Amino acid sequence: MDLPPDLARTTLIRPFSNRPTIFNNTHRLIPSCFRQLNLLPNWVSEKKKSISVSLREFSISVVETNTSDKTFERVVGLNPNPLVIERIHNGEETIGESVSGGEIIGNKIEKSEETLVREESEAEKEAWRILEDAVVRYCGSPVGTVAANDPGDKLPLNYDQVFIRDFVPSALAFLLKGEGEIVRNFLLHTLQLQSWEKTVDCYSPGQGLMPASFKVRTVALDENTTEEVLDPDFGESAIGRVAPVDSGLWWIILLRAYGKLTGDFSLQERIDVQTGIKLIMNLCLADGFDMFPTLLVTDGSCMIDRRMGIHGHPLEIQSLFYSALRCSREMLSVNDSSNNLVRAINNRLSALSFHIREYYWVDIRKINEIYRYKTEEYSTDATNKFNIYPEQIPPWLMDWIPEQGGYLLGNLQPAHMDFRFFTLGNFWSVVSSLSTPKQNEAILNLIEAKWDDIIGNMPLKICYPALEYDDWRIITGSDPKNTPWSYHNSGSWPTLLWQFTLACMKMGRPELAEKALALAEKRLMADRWPEYYDTRSGKFIGKQSRLYQTWTVAGFLTSKLLLANPEMASKLFWEEDYELLDICVCGLSKSGRKKCSRVAAKTQILVR
Ligand code: GLC
Repeated sequence: MDLPPDLARTTLIRPFSNRPTIFNNTHRLIPSCFRQLNLLPNWVSEKKKSISVSLREFSISVVETNTSDKTFERVVGLNPNPLVIERIHNGEETIGESVSGGEIIGNKIEKSEETLVREESEAEKEAWRILEDAVVRYCGSPVGTVAANDPGDKLPLNYDQVFIRDFVPSALAFLLKGEGEIVRNFLLHTLQLQSWEKTVDCYSPGQGLMPASFKVRTVALDENTTEEVLDPDFGESAIGRVAPVDSGLWWIILLRAYGKLTGDFSLQERIDVQTGIKLIMNLCLADGFDMFPTLLVTDGSCMIDRRMGIHGHPLEIQSLFYSALRCSREMLSVNDSSNNLVRAINNRLSALSFHIREYYWVDIRKINEIYRYKTEEYSTDATNKFNIYPEQIPPWLMDWIPEQGGYLLGNLQPAHMDFRFFTLGNFWSVVSSLSTPKQNEAILNLIEAKWDDIIGNMPLKICYPALEYDDWRIITGSDPKNTPWSYHNSGSWPTLLWQFTLACMKMGRPELAEKALALAEKRLMADRWPEYYDTRSGKFIGKQSRLYQTWTVAGFLTSKLLLANPEMASKLFWEEDYELLDICVCGLSKSGRKKCSRVAAKTQILVR
């Protein structure tokens, strides 16, 4: 397949096309030779040398050098003073950790010295054991973690695969513990899987799509030889055949986190990695028919990967999209070939934040405004721009909305507002500053006011409230897994804890996260780390819940580590970007017809 010159990959993918490792026409497999390219030969670390790796030629030249030369570290991405976390032992037992170092290399060299000693609880010790057992190896190197390792599960379906979204909390736990190798390998191997071939029947998904998951398979080359290959799933095997829109966004978010937490910025600077970012961004920013700056997607294209009535412009995708745009803006090297893309990213960031802040926000005042909306307004300056009929306000909301606090809607379409509260999307809006500082505060106020509904016995409800009766029948298609107050339909997912923790820490309210974490810690180990909980208050282990679910374990560990390392946590969230607020694409238009609603709304909405 021909790629535009600026998107052409390095020769990393060439040997792949030369090697017939595809065993059927719907699977694209990455042969084991790839791992060699990105690994540092053992002899290099034995003797200090400078190394220059030419990806284009596959050649590695090694030159002896004096030890003060930083070229070596910069080229191969070694951190000369990495974050060191030592386990503290008392005889056989690990009783705590000591953290020190944390030097950033690359262009910016910073130092952070921090030492803390913390005792690990029994739950944490068990969680680390489970997480380490979940590690998947490819040609001997760690490349990810399986979704679940439930010994009682006779039908693991695809839970024995490495899911891109599920790996994020595992990756953060490893990074916060000072282990970068598995994350680096994951990022590079999934990059090799990025879609560039037909995968679903005779139709190709857009270039740049990242798989939902992958599996390491052993295939026979001949009678005597086997080879390990990576087998991705872009949705062609997944239930519902939905392309995972969030995978590429998570990949970009994790790439930034890897740089921030290890100081190894050389990874994001590599040509193939830069190309990967561009492919994802080009796919997300491609022109279509849509009138909104939000990303238009099908139902089930994110963590909620079954039909739940979230097609259109669901908040989860919008907040991950916004975060990925911000990450890309930070990581893309600006040059002639990326100028246009960077401009498009800036414009989209600005338009997207305006749209979400202005139209997705609801609090008691806004609901009252919608309640009194006039409809069928035909003009560019209509108040009720999306023609929302007030009868759409669900009765539960009128009683539920607290005096203090508010949240971002689940979805917005012409004549349709999805008033359900979606947890992940609201948390990522806080973390990425998609919402205003005041809105961020209000989101946490709402969680506090509605603690029993959103947290209850087990943090955290994936959404609130559940779809019931005819809504359940029509919207989920009578899905027996998504019955009211179960699974995606308002089940409680402990993995969401780490994102709640990050949002609370950003807003200076770690005590809220600690309270939720304490609840989880009381039950998770005893309940064998379930994937999700059921019922209104999250009292029961989910009907079809897997046990020993990796992202439950990893989410718990990541929350613990974030709370113990506020300085590291702060590298993972964003503050308000005032420069973005000043960019208004409408201002560039010469057309007198266009009336910019943003100018009028700016003072009240953008920074209020
Ligand atoms: C379920 C979840 C999805 C997760 C997968 C693996 O399909 O809905 O979000 O990635 O399980 O854990």
